[in-house]
Amino acid sequence: KSGTTANTVWHAHKICRHHREFLNGQRACLLWFTGLSGSGKSTIAGLVEERLHEQRKLTYLLDGDNVRKGMNGDLGFTDADRIENIRRIGEMSKLFVDAGVITLSAFISPFRSERAAVRDLMREGDFIEVFVDAPLDTCEGRDPKGLYQRARSGEIKNFTGIDSPYERPDAPEIHVVNDGSLSPREVADQVVGYLRQRQFI
Ligand code: PPS
Repeated sequence: KSGTTANTVWHAHKICRHHREFLNGQRACLLWFTGLSGSGKSTIAGLVEERLHEQRKLTYLLDGDNVRKGMNGDLGFTDADRIENIRRIGEMSKLFVDAGVITLSAFISPFRSERAAVRDLMREGDFIEVFVDAPLDTCEGRDPKGLYQRARSGEIKNFTGIDSPYERPDAPEIHVVNDGSLSPREVADQVVGYLRQRQFI
């Protein structure tokens, strides 16, 4: 350990996650949405959150663009910055789960090793990887923010899928295809169905 962490001691407080989960009347977990830019991660995560909220579940959605405006405003899109981005979000998500909240994190999170590191950070069974799968040409066709066009013209460097890699999950807990064949709501319902089937909700 380096820096100040070498001189710190973990403090075990009396009130723990189980007390908070009991108060919230739910089991907490982390739904980790990964996929290309424009695959629909935020949209699907938002719709899942709406469904959970309707069922009076306490939720929080951490989302790429929003977190990068605040806590991770100092990070860009080099490999090293993406790794640090996901590391911080993993730690942040862990705190939300410890608060007894059903946490939804929607980030490209392009590297398998970083997603695995977040999984390892969580307790067994708490991490639910949701692969929002849409072909690159579909995402590029959608291009809701015009970023693919700017990446193709060379104006934006290190763009995922263009000149920066995306490593598809090998064995996500949930694999949804969001290529336009189903409505976003139907795709979100597949995620909610999984949570119900596994008795998370
Ligand atoms: S990462 O890879 O997990 O650290 O990325 P993330 O924090 O999810 O941020 C992705 C959003 O940032 C915008 N953006 C870019 N994405 C990919 N590559 C480059 N170079 C880039 N520059 C800006 C883009 O709007 C992403 O949002 P989504 O919602 O994924 O489209």
